[in-house]
Amino acid sequence: MQRSNFAPHDDPYGLPPSYDKSTQTGSKWAPRNWSKKLLIGVIAAIVLVVAAIIVGAVVGSKSTSYPDYSTLSYSLQDTYSGTDFFDQFDYFTGYDPSAGFVHYVPAETATSSDYNLTYASSSSAVLRVDTTDTDASTGRYSVRITSKKQYDSGLFVFDVLNSPYGCSTWPALWLSDPDNWPTNGEIDVMEAVNQATTGNQVTLHTTDDCKMNVKRKESGDVLTNNCWNGTDYNAGCGVQGAQDTFGEAFNANGGGVYALEWRDEGIRVWFFSRGSIPSNIPTDLTNTTAPDPSTWGEPLADFPATHCDMSSHFKNQSIIANIDLCGSWAGTTSIYSTQDQCPGTCTDFVTTNATAFDTAYWEWASWRVYTAS
Ligand SMILES: *[C@@H]1O[C@H](CO)[C@@H](O)[C@H](O)[C@H]1NC(C)=O
Ligand SMILES: *[C@@H]1O[C@H](CO)[C@@H](O)[C@H](O)[C@H]1NC(C)=O
Ligand SMILES: *[C@@H]1O[C@H](CO)[C@@H](O)[C@H](O)[C@H]1NC(C)=O
Ligand SMILES: *[C@@H]1O[C@H](CO)[C@@H](O)[C@H](O)[C@H]1NC(C)=O
Ligand SMILES: *[C@@H]1O[C@H](CO)[C@@H](O)[C@H](O)[C@H]1NC(C)=O
Repeated sequence: MQRSNFAPHDDPYGLPPSYDKSTQTGSKWAPRNWSKKLLIGVIAAIVLVVAAIIVGAVVGSKSTSYPDYSTLSYSLQDTYSGTDFFDQFDYFTGYDPSAGFVHYVPAETATSSDYNLTYASSSSAVLRVDTTDTDASTGRYSVRITSKKQYDSGLFVFDVLNSPYGCSTWPALWLSDPDNWPTNGEIDVMEAVNQATTGNQVTLHTTDDCKMNVKRKESGDVLTNNCWNGTDYNAGCGVQGAQDTFGEAFNANGGGVYALEWRDEGIRVWFFSRGSIPSNIPTDLTNTTAPDPSTWGEPLADFPATHCDMSSHFKNQSIIANIDLCGSWAGTTSIYSTQDQCPGTCTDFVTTNATAFDTAYWEWASWRVYTAS
C-alpha cells in the first residue's frame, strides 16, 4: 500500500545548505532572528508534515472504512417465469467471445422438438446442451440468452432448481452489457467449470480503478482483488463458495436461491440452499412480499464501493445465462486435465460424448427483480 509520495529529505527540517551560522546575532531559536531562507525552510517543513499526516489518515482510514448498507425498501419490478420465460430474451448466435467449442443456436432451433434446448412450463424453465449429436466435430449446440431489459441497480432473486456440470462445461448466470464490455462492467453471480467440485465463483470484471483490497464482510474465499480486466489475465475479482454452491452437491439439495443486491454502496451476493431460504424470499410467486437483505446475515460475496465507484463501473446490465463448452476457462489443459481430471482432450470429449451432457442443464423456478423505492 502506498503511504506517501514525499521523497525523504537529507535534512528533514530544511536547513538551507548556504546557511551561515557566523552571520547570526542573538538566539537562533527566536524566529525573528532567522534568515529568510531558514524561515521558508521551516514553513515548508511544517507544510510537509501536515500534508503527510493528512495523507496518512486517508490511507489508514481506507482499510477500515466500510459503506453504510442501510436498509432499502424493495418492490417487485420484473418476474421471469412461466411458459413465456424465454420470450423476454434474445438468443445470442455469434461466434463465442470466450473461444468455446460450441454453437449457440437461435430460438427456432433451441425450441424445436428435435433439440428442445430451451423449454419453459408453468413451473420452470430449462436451458440445456444438445445430448443427441455423436459427432459434433465443429462444436456442440448450446444456448446463450440475454435479457432484452437492462438494469442499472436492483435486487435480483434467482430461484435455481438445477445447475449444469460435467467435463468440458462452463455454465454461467451473469449480468453484463456485452456491447460495452468492460466499460459497463460484468457481474458473475453463478459460474463454474467441468465437475464444479470447487463450488461457485462470484466475480466482477471492470475497467481500471475498481479494487477489493478493502474491508469486506463475506463468508466466501477471496481469489483475486483487482476487478480490472487488464490484470490477472482478466480473472476479475472473484470470491469462491463452498462445494454445495454449484453442481452435483447443489442439485442434490434441490438447488437454492442466489440473491444479488446491486446498489451505490456495493454489490453483494447471498446463497441459500433449498432448505434455508429466508421467509422474506417467498418462493410462491403469487406472494409479492419484498425480500429484505438486511435480515439475511453475511453474504457469500461482498464487493463494497470503498475503492470501486459502482455507478461508473456498472451500467446497462442484461441478465445472461449460457452453457459454454471448453473455451478459455474450462478447456485450458491445466484446468480440464490437471485440476479437474477430465478424460482426453476437451474438444474430443465434446465431439463424441453426447450422453455426458445429460447433466449439463439449467433449471430455474423463477427470476425476480426488485427495485428500491
Ligand atoms: C423438452 O424438455 C422438457 C423439460 O425437460 C420436457 O418436459 C419435454 O417433454 C421435452 N419436449 C420434447 C418434445 O422432447
Ligand atoms: C446499453 O446497451 C445497449 C445494447 O447492448 C446499447 O445499444 C446502448 O447504447 C447501451 N447504453 C449505454 C448507456 O451504454
Ligand atoms: C480489457 O479490456 C480492454 C478494453 O478496455 C481490451 O482492449 C483488452 O483486450 C481487455 N483485456 C483482456 C485480457 O480481456
Ligand atoms: C407472503 O410471504 C410472507 C413472508 O414469508 C408471509 O409473511 C406472508 O404471510 C405471505 N403472504 C401470503 C398471502 O401467503
Ligand atoms: C463420457 O462421459 C462419461 C460421463 O461423464 C465418462 O464417464 C466417460 O469417461 C466419457 N467417455 C469418454 C470416451 O470420454
